[in-house]
Amino acid sequence: MSALLYNEDALSGISRVADASVDLVVADPPYGLGKDYGNDSDRLDAQEYLVWSRRWIDAVLPKLKENGSLYVFLTWQHSPEVFSYLKTQLSMVNEIIWDRRVPSMGGSTRKFSSVHDNIGFFVKSRDYHFDIDAVRIPYDAETKKARTRSIFVGKRWLELGYNPKDVWSVSRLHRQHAEREDHPTQKPLEIVERMVLASCPAGGTVLDPFMGSGTSAVAAARHGRSFIGFELNPDYFAIVKQRLARLMHGGERAVPAAATQPSLL
Ligand SMILES: C[S@@+](CC[C@H](N)C(=O)[O-])C[C@H]1O[C@@H](n2cnc3c(N)ncnc32)[C@H](O)[C@@H]1O
Repeated sequence: MSALLYNEDALSGISRVADASVDLVVADPPYGLGKDYGNDSDRLDAQEYLVWSRRWIDAVLPKLKENGSLYVFLTWQHSPEVFSYLKTQLSMVNEIIWDRRVPSMGGSTRKFSSVHDNIGFFVKSRDYHFDIDAVRIPYDAETKKARTRSIFVGKRWLELGYNPKDVWSVSRLHRQHAEREDHPTQKPLEIVERMVLASCPAGGTVLDPFMGSGTSAVAAARHGRSFIGFELNPDYFAIVKQRLARLMHGGERAVPAAATQPSLL
């Protein structure tokens, strides 16, 4: 297991990654909405954003193995066009709606408040890796009790739990959240861990071209997957390294030794 972290533009650095070597791409690019990441990466107009999206997609897709998968976080403003482009090269399996569980706080009076992100789940071939048992949600005692009719007794699925649906209700990481780092669009670990467990085989490799605070690096390390990641901003890059170091020293599942070697960081 290893973690290769690069503080550089993914589009130039990606050539270091061997073709057909990655099981899972978790891509959480700037959304094209003008967020300040301490660089100009989210200051493109709509047309430029689509051109740039095609560029990173073209750079990343050759890295996927034949049975590999890609998840991409987007919002409704650009997801139709980016999904359409991805569909020219991959098969779309799901659109997952991340319901950020944003509490009602007044908000706009001229439109409905937007509280979701659009996540595209794409695969390269029909033979894609997908481990549903690793991400099943246990039925609660109440539901199990309601299934006591003889046709349900002994059913494996009732014991294993159910298949998560395509609306994922997970609270965004507000400022006081224990997981929260100093990054404006950090994603909850729970979401990225589900992607890793379902779509990257044990011992496989996850690639994240836009690491931010390194949520995908932590998810991969916690579950024994190798990791390759890129991040432009040196401050965010430092956060990624801190999070991995904390994981290693915190008594949680250890980060592989290679992740701490300077040549790999
Ligand atoms: C939406 S955030 C990722 C957040 C991350 N998923 C997390 O949980 O913290 C996008 C990140 O991509 C970085 N970025 C933008 N363009 C990049 C590029 N060309 N190469 C590498 N990183 C880039 C930004 O600095 C920003 O931190």
